[in-house]
Amino acid sequence: MSNKVITLSPSGQNVPVVDGDTVLMSLERGGYALPNNCRAGACGECKVRVLEGQFDQGFVMDMALSQEERKQGFGLMCMAKPLSERLVIEWGSADASPKLFPPREAMPFVVVEKIQRTPRICEFQLLPLGAPLRFWPGQYVAITAPKPGATPRHYSLANAPRQDGSLTLHISRVDGGLTSNWLHEEVGIGEGLSLSGPYGSFIGDPKAETPVLCLAAGSGLAPLLSLTEAALKRGYRKPVTLLFSARREEDFYAKGRLVYWSRMHRNFGWKLTLTGEEKPGLLHGRIPGLLPRLFPDLSAHSVFMAGSTEFTEDCLSAVRALGVQESLLHHERFISQRIT
Ligand code: FES
Repeated sequence: MSNKVITLSPSGQNVPVVDGDTVLMSLERGGYALPNNCRAGACGECKVRVLEGQFDQGFVMDMALSQEERKQGFGLMCMAKPLSERLVIEWGSADASPKLFPPREAMPFVVVEKIQRTPRICEFQLLPLGAPLRFWPGQYVAITAPKPGATPRHYSLANAPRQDGSLTLHISRVDGGLTSNWLHEEVGIGEGLSLSGPYGSFIGDPKAETPVLCLAAGSGLAPLLSLTEAALKRGYRKPVTLLFSARREEDFYAKGRLVYWSRMHRNFGWKLTLTGEEKPGLLHGRIPGLLPRLFPDLSAHSVFMAGSTEFTEDCLSAVRALGVQESLLHHERFISQRIT
């Protein structure tokens, strides 16, 4: 540790600086999720205004930080190293929570991959034709089928922000749902798709340093995949467990991803429970009924949950009975409205 600090404005929170670390590294060490992408001074994603103090900007590209922006006090925090004892940067809201990105309308994307994951869930992988969508893991986008009577339907993003701006969506087919059926039946690889967003505040608290339990059912898995990917990518060290509930084993998607994460990150584990059939080696029964045995004390856990309203309500009652703190509880209870 050095005697230098970074002060966040307007919250006034101080973050200690380790000698040799960039501002971005210090913030991440302190649990603050400053948006970033290339971490090499090339994309501009980590740009903030420095209000007070001096820093060494290091070598960054002009297209990521123009001369005009430098004059206005902006810097790229992935490469900036504090020189003065105190560096005040404009970041976060009054309580030092991350700011949400303003949503944009009708952003053009191309479908580059379409994979039927389960009998009802189809995965779409999209690449942007314009600037990448800036979003927090756990947020969602809106899509409207070009059909008379169709209204915007909301779909959670299933991946953490990536450098190429690619997005993954898991679309559940809903009986009579104009948009979900249009996506399943008519939108193929190579087609254009226009999205609006990002929306939602199911983003968790990047400062939390607790074990994490994620509970998901159906396409509620999508935002939890996004949150988990982001946490593991930024080096979250506490145990993270994902518990997924499916009716049958064929409804379980993303197994490959979960196995990969558990092999790559010793702090990540996952379990599958089936509610509609029994299989050797797998849990059986709904998550609320299993929790007291699996996690008898949740008083020190952050808990994230997403699924149908019924699933979320039942899980909420169960985790509250096991002592979860309200400030560490995050739920996406309206997902049943967002899967049509
Ligand atoms: S993260 Fe790309 S410029 Fe800093």
